[in-house]
Amino acid sequence: MALLEQLNKRYATKKFDASKKIASADLTTLLEAIRLSASSYGLQAYKVLVVENEAIRKQLRAASWDQSQITDASQLLVFAVETNFDEKGVDKFVENTANTRNIEVSALSGYADMMKGSLKRPAEEVQAWLTKQLYIALGFGLVAAAELNIDSCPMEGFDANQYDEILGLKEKGLHAGVILAVGYRSSEDGYQHLSKVRRGHEDFFIAV
Ligand SMILES: Cc1cc2nc3c(=O)[nH]c(=O)nc-3n(C[C@H](O)[C@H](O)[C@H](O)COP(=O)(O)O)c2cc1C
Repeated sequence: MALLEQLNKRYATKKFDASKKIASADLTTLLEAIRLSASSYGLQAYKVLVVENEAIRKQLRAASWDQSQITDASQLLVFAVETNFDEKGVDKFVENTANTRNIEVSALSGYADMMKGSLKRPAEEVQAWLTKQLYIALGFGLVAAAELNIDSCPMEGFDANQYDEILGLKEKGLHAGVILAVGYRSSEDGYQHLSKVRRGHEDFFIAV
């Protein structure tokens, strides 16, 4: 299967070729795949920053244990969760759904109440739930990049508070959660030659 071939070819790229940029059409496709990600109720309570600015990326690299992917990838995608997502956010989503599907907002009132109910939990629980959604989008990005022959590195090795500061996320009601460096591997990246290590089928799947 072509998809499995691509997934075997992809790897968490450690060294990008800084001279290679993703063609605009491919970047558009990649971002669109991320936008199409599934999310709990479809709320998408997060934003994705597409960072290209060199000076900013230099600062971000310093806040990422000096990992070279931050500056050498073609783009750095920062998945940032909304920190003030509340009932108004649900109303906005319901409005968008009603407009998109050409139905009355009132037809969705039960659904809206259910979603609002999910927000009536301790704030930390809500934030953890919303943050999980970032990783689904990250997964969509990883698979889409592989399909497009774009190399990538998913990363948690960064200081989220420093990212918030550098990117002005707090003022935007956002908090950095996870990042994805995308571009093209350097021929010098030894990791591309390593065999993929995964649990065996028997140690992974449980037939019930
Ligand atoms: C959420 C997440 C965070 C990661 N953080 C980093 C990171 O900060 N730096 C890095 O070089 N790799 C990072 N990785 C890459 C993993 O180490 C890598 O995906 C794993 O070893 C499996 O290897 P493969 O992706 O090359 O198949 C991260 C992966 C995930 C999914």
